[in-house]
Parts: sequence; C-alpha cells; structure tokens
Amino acid sequence: MNDKEKSDLIKRAIEARAFAYAPYSGFSVGAAVLCADGSVFTGCNVENASYPCGICAERTAAAKAVGEGRRDIIAAAIVGSSAEKCTPCGVCRQFLFEFAPDMIVLCGDKDGNYAEYKLSGLLPEGFGPGSLG
Ligand code: THU
Repeated sequence: MNDKEKSDLIKRAIEARAFAYAPYSGFSVGAAVLCADGSVFTGCNVENASYPCGICAERTAAAKAVGEGRRDIIAAAIVGSSAEKCTPCGVCRQFLFEFAPDMIVLCGDKDGNYAEYKLSGLLPEGFGPGSLG
C-alpha cells in the first residue's frame, strides 16, 4: 500500500464517520476496510440504549465486507472524533484477526492524521482459526 492508498482509505473512514450513531458516548468513529481486489467497505459505530448492544465502526465495516463475500481484508482504517488516534478495541482486534493477522491498521484522529500498525503487533499471539487445531 502506498501513501496515497493509505490516505484514500482514511478519507473513506472520515466520510463514514458522518453516519455514526453515538448519542450515548458522543464519540463518533468511522472505518473503512480494503480488500485484496481493491474493494472498500465502510462502517460507523452504532450505539444502543442497551449499551452493550452497540457495535464499533471497524466491526461494522468488516462484517459488511464478509457479508458481501469478501474475506480477504488487507487493511483497515479507523478514525475517531478526538485529537487522539483511535486504536481498535480488544474485541475488534480479535474480530479482524480472524481474516488477516498481518493486515495494516491505520489509526486516525479527528483530522485524519494517522499511525500505522500491523494487526499482529496490536494483538500478539492472537487466537485465530489455526488455533483450533
Ligand atoms: N469505538 C469504535 O467504534 N471503534 C473503536 O475502535 C473504539 C471505540 C466506539 C464504540 C463506542 O460507540 C464509542 O466508540 C465509545 O467507546
């Protein structure tokens, strides 16, 4: 992935953030996942009056990809709505790990400045499909 592709993915995440439904936390998040064939799926966080029922932006985006037949996710961009770069929560690290432990994870702040990680670095020794034997 070159720098242009990375900033394009961050832009898609910023656009998706506009759809966030976050009346309880007030923290809007957008995400975009890039698949090997170049397709991009976006998502936002969707909260719920029953708080634990809410879902994070990156899980929404990844579930959309898988639900459209794309499991080959190679990168994910996540942008929050604060000055802090938004790193994926533990549940989302595990959810994404299922599909590509080595995917690139771009963690952005409200303005789209981002830091780059490998998912395997964010979830060392992760439990994946191969762990079931
Ligand atoms: N959130 C995400 O959507 N992705 C993350 O990686 C971190 C947290 C959401 C969940 C909740 O709706 C809000 O941010 C505050 O935690």
